[in-house]
Amino acid sequence: MKKHWFLLLVLISNELFAQKFENLALTPPMGWNSWNKFACNVDENMIKQMADAMVSSGMKDVGYTYINIDDCWHGSRDSLGFIHPDAKRFSSGMKALADYVHSKGLKLGIYSDAGWQTCGGRPGSRGYEFQDALTYATWGIDYLKYDWCNTDGLKGEGAYKTIAAGLRKAGRPVVVSICEWGTDKPWDWGPSVGHLWRTTGDIYNCFDCINDHGTWKSWGVMQILDKQEGLRKYAGPGHWNDPDMLEIGNGKLTPGEDRAHFSMWAMLAAPLIAGNDLRNMTNAIKEVLTNKDVIAVNQDSLGVQGFRYAVKDSVETWLKPLKNGDWAVGFLNRSLAPKTIEFNWQSEVVNDTLSRKELNAKTATYTVRDLWLKKDAGNTKKPLKTTVPAHDILMLRLRKQSL
Ligand code: GLA
Repeated sequence: MKKHWFLLLVLISNELFAQKFENLALTPPMGWNSWNKFACNVDENMIKQMADAMVSSGMKDVGYTYINIDDCWHGSRDSLGFIHPDAKRFSSGMKALADYVHSKGLKLGIYSDAGWQTCGGRPGSRGYEFQDALTYATWGIDYLKYDWCNTDGLKGEGAYKTIAAGLRKAGRPVVVSICEWGTDKPWDWGPSVGHLWRTTGDIYNCFDCINDHGTWKSWGVMQILDKQEGLRKYAGPGHWNDPDMLEIGNGKLTPGEDRAHFSMWAMLAAPLIAGNDLRNMTNAIKEVLTNKDVIAVNQDSLGVQGFRYAVKDSVETWLKPLKNGDWAVGFLNRSLAPKTIEFNWQSEVVNDTLSRKELNAKTATYTVRDLWLKKDAGNTKKPLKTTVPAHDILMLRLRKQSL
């Protein structure tokens, strides 16, 4: 009898507290999203082509999995309240599209909003949360980005718990991408509700600038980076800070800025969601997005977000502890001039109190690999001295040698 009561309690609390699906994002999610390049201009052919390109470009082979449709896929709700995709743009229906994406070994993501309308003015999920969650499950959706426009009177935690409960009830495992721009400190409540949460407003396609829209601003890569300060302790396997999607390949960043953007998102253990047209990437862009060594830093199973260790003359030294005692090290040159950097591994002992990992070149030797040159670069017995070009990064992996 007692056992039955206990079971009932567990069932009820699952329902009320909407535990998320576990083990879906033990490393930061990797994929592609339509917004940064295409905004509202989405349709099923383009999405299918993007899935094809993810496979043919080699991106799938290095870990990219999700094909995410952002805003504006919507048609309207029918008389029973069920949402339908735009009948012209998605004439075969979402189930057929999900089947196609799944047949490529990939997963399909979709977008909705906690308010009554999405940011693009399409029907939001407010009041229809459980119904929409059920619809997504019948379509075979694997990932939901849930936005925060038109949410007057709502609070983030409650609103996201409602959609998470709906998804849980619908029964199909879905990655929940909380997109409320850091408004209600999602890092405080997000880990039990979703798998990632946006920490800021939207990224803007520039390295170091702010785009002021009057009532809101969007932020360059460096501005977003600075807004991650203090948040690393909230991230870990299954729950990640999301500094927004990548702008690599969207035509505004230099090759060095592309490398710096990708490296820093790896350092931050950020979701790696490409935002460019995968169908016609240059080789240079493809090489950035598929750099396996940098991706390995991002996808490291320890799941510890990196940190800014030092700032000197516009060069930031970033560190990220990795499994087996390894470390990723980034020297990010934020200035418009090349900078000479010097770093004496022997005299810098780093203790990361959060992860309790130590980088100590006095007691261990680490081999050094340059992750962009894809070359070994000696070991930590000798001090490092080199030049980092303007708006670029030197990204290294220190591999701890066993004694
Ligand atoms: C918000 C989000 C963006 C994008 C748009 C779509 O601005 O933060 O990432 O989804 O809405 O309208």
